[in-house]
Amino acid sequence: NPEVFILSIESSCDDTAAAILQNDKVLSNVVANQLIHTQYGGVVPELASRAHQQNIVPVVAAALDKANIKKEQLSAIAFTQGPGLMGSLLVGSSFAKSLALALQIPLIAVNHMQAHVLAHFIDEEGYEKPNFPFLALTISGGHTQILKVDHFFEMTVIGETTDDAVGEAFDKSAKILGLPYPGGPLIDKYAKLGNPKAFAFTKPKVPGLNFSFSGLKTAILYFIQKKKLENPNFVEENLTDICASIQYTIIEILMDKLKLAVNETGITQITIGGGVSANSGIRNRLKEAENKYGWKTFIPKFEYTTDNAAMIGIVGYQKFLTQKFETSAVVSKARIQL
Ligand code: KG4
Ligand code: ZN
Repeated sequence: NPEVFILSIESSCDDTAAAILQNDKVLSNVVANQLIHTQYGGVVPELASRAHQQNIVPVVAAALDKANIKKEQLSAIAFTQGPGLMGSLLVGSSFAKSLALALQIPLIAVNHMQAHVLAHFIDEEGYEKPNFPFLALTISGGHTQILKVDHFFEMTVIGETTDDAVGEAFDKSAKILGLPYPGGPLIDKYAKLGNPKAFAFTKPKVPGLNFSFSGLKTAILYFIQKKKLENPNFVEENLTDICASIQYTIIEILMDKLKLAVNETGITQITIGGGVSANSGIRNRLKEAENKYGWKTFIPKFEYTTDNAAMIGIVGYQKFLTQKFETSAVVSKARIQL
């Protein structure tokens, strides 16, 4: 088998990322985070596009440099086609098209959501890959999905959020507590020191495998407002218990749906991806579930769970093997069905 070198580019939201893969191994994985959004408490699409435009060339150059690969050695270029912010997607796709044209190599379009799932197939020493079929839980600031994955490109969404994503539930709760954006990691940090049963928040009643998080956010808002009337220092005095209770409720919601998905499909291999999979509480609960329910869980390296280009590259490699190439007329898509 000849060596395949793929340059992959991810620019769907607020991270500009490029990676070089040699077959299914990652040689470099570079991400430029956009810190500009912090002061606005969320991603500002217009600012994201501009930052991508500034970052894309240096990020790709750094990926080639770190991999010690010359652009003439590349076999193909893979890019994120969608879903995502249109202005952000356009920067990555236009750059990928131009470079593929200049180098006269194939262009490969990648679905970002498939990439989160297939990141588990990156070859890493000591990391065991899941076997088909498996269930994939994708949880981030933009996504909340459970998928049934039968093969590389045969996957079905069996549950998803009807409103906010899990990451938004963390970030919006954090905002209510006066914590800076993105608040997810801070809630996790304080939760470790608090009592998860200190305060009870009702879980939403959503039928089947779908999720809803906007009600929880409102419940937390009203709870905090009420408590602050009684004691203006309520949040400061109870921060760790509040964070632990919020995190506990969110994890209960996720675990309830995973248990239901396992019951409905009979599949007990579970992978997780997306930035929220960094959450220590979720990681512990999934590990616990291995003994408690006999599941087998797969949690990849953190750099492959948040938005990154290596996951785009592994999908690019799979598509390269089956020659799934695009013409230069391929268009970006803000929404794509799996
Ligand atoms: O995958 P990601 O980097 O970007 C996308 O949203 O696609 O995910 C970012 C999300 C944010 O909402 C952030 O608060 C959340 O992941 N997050 C966490 C933790 N680390 C990141 N949420 C809870 N606990 C964490 N440790
Ligand atoms: Zn993502």
